[in-house]
Amino acid sequence: MANPSPSKLAYVPFVSVENMMKLVHHIGIETMLKGIADYIEDDFRRWDLFDKTPRVASHSEEGVIELMPTSDGDVYGFKYVNGHPKNTKEGLQTVTAFGLLAKVDTGYPVLFSEMTVLTALRTAATSAMVAKHLAPKGAHTMAMIGNGAQSEFQALAMRVICGIETLRMYDVDRAATEKAVRNLDGFGFTLEPCSTPEAAIEGAQIITTCTADKQYATILTDNMVGAGVHINAIGGDCPGKTELHHDILARSDVFVEYPPQTRVEGEIQQMPEDFPVTEMWQVINGTAPGRRDARQITLFDGVGFAIEDFSALRYVRDQLKGTGLYQELDMIADPDDPRDLFGMVLRAKP
Ligand SMILES: NC(=O)c1ccc[n+]([C@@H]2O[C@H](COP(=O)([O-])OP(=O)(O)OC[C@H]3O[C@@H](n4cnc5c(N)ncnc54)[C@H](O)[C@@H]3O)[C@@H](O)[C@H]2O)c1
Repeated sequence: MANPSPSKLAYVPFVSVENMMKLVHHIGIETMLKGIADYIEDDFRRWDLFDKTPRVASHSEEGVIELMPTSDGDVYGFKYVNGHPKNTKEGLQTVTAFGLLAKVDTGYPVLFSEMTVLTALRTAATSAMVAKHLAPKGAHTMAMIGNGAQSEFQALAMRVICGIETLRMYDVDRAATEKAVRNLDGFGFTLEPCSTPEAAIEGAQIITTCTADKQYATILTDNMVGAGVHINAIGGDCPGKTELHHDILARSDVFVEYPPQTRVEGEIQQMPEDFPVTEMWQVINGTAPGRRDARQITLFDGVGFAIEDFSALRYVRDQLKGTGLYQELDMIADPDDPRDLFGMVLRAKP
């Protein structure tokens, strides 16, 4: 007897890296950053609905591998992601990722996707969405400290969503800055490579730190940060891996994604357990204040939370329709008689 073919649900749309890049160009990178930011903001607005848990991290000497699950009751999602700062020296990425969405009512996956490119897009979209709420009015200049894989995405999202025009760039590795300058040429920025972090933050209303080092680093010291800035600190995202001197935290208003995760992984791991923070979803919902005055220092201690990945996957799923930019993966074993898994294996004998 011929094997019956699997049901439609057994095939899961898979977005490869190649197709993700095609999708970025099909949509337009600026439109996509804005679209993902809108999806993240919408999901932050319905925060209460989500299952929330700090990500499950497996640490090693060299880095970390993490699983990031969440669900809104209708759809479940997770991301696999690593963070290995030493990888670039071996010609490998610091961060790589993939993830999926599944229907809660059947448990069957409905999307499987690369997420290395998508993580860069969603991290930038989150940073810019947050800065839209917290940065000083009329911000036009951003310091970009750390000019690695995430940096151009960060810059572009800040331009599209917050109106950043001038980028003052610094990296310990000059070659990284030169690469970012080349990549960002033609996007309408005034690009100003700087030779020290102090020079980079001169005249900047937004300071983004996006470096990778597996240690308590001090990218910014207290005396470098004046009043009336917004700090977007995204490189400190693991126990023992931070970017800011704790005195900066002490005089800033700190905004976070999900406190139980950020207290372990973020800049605030340097502060006491009860250090006051504001959850970003409350600012978005209008139940907590964001920036109150022009001289305040606002600090987004961004570590990356599962809901942002869920939103990004949701966005991709919605945009895929009609593009053909995916493959159908035969991913779910689906015997004709659901109880006859064994028989299905037997019948597959060549
Ligand atoms: N918060 C989030 O959601 C999120 C998401 C993705 C990545 N990250 C983190 O962001 C960081 C950057 O990621 P990436 O993929 O761009 O890494 P990357 O390795 O490609 O780039 C990091 C850059 O930082 C530079 N650098 C290191 N120490 C520095 C210092 N003291 N001063 C200035 N520059 C310095 C390096 O030379 C490199 O160019 C990583 O730490 C990563 O874990 C956070």
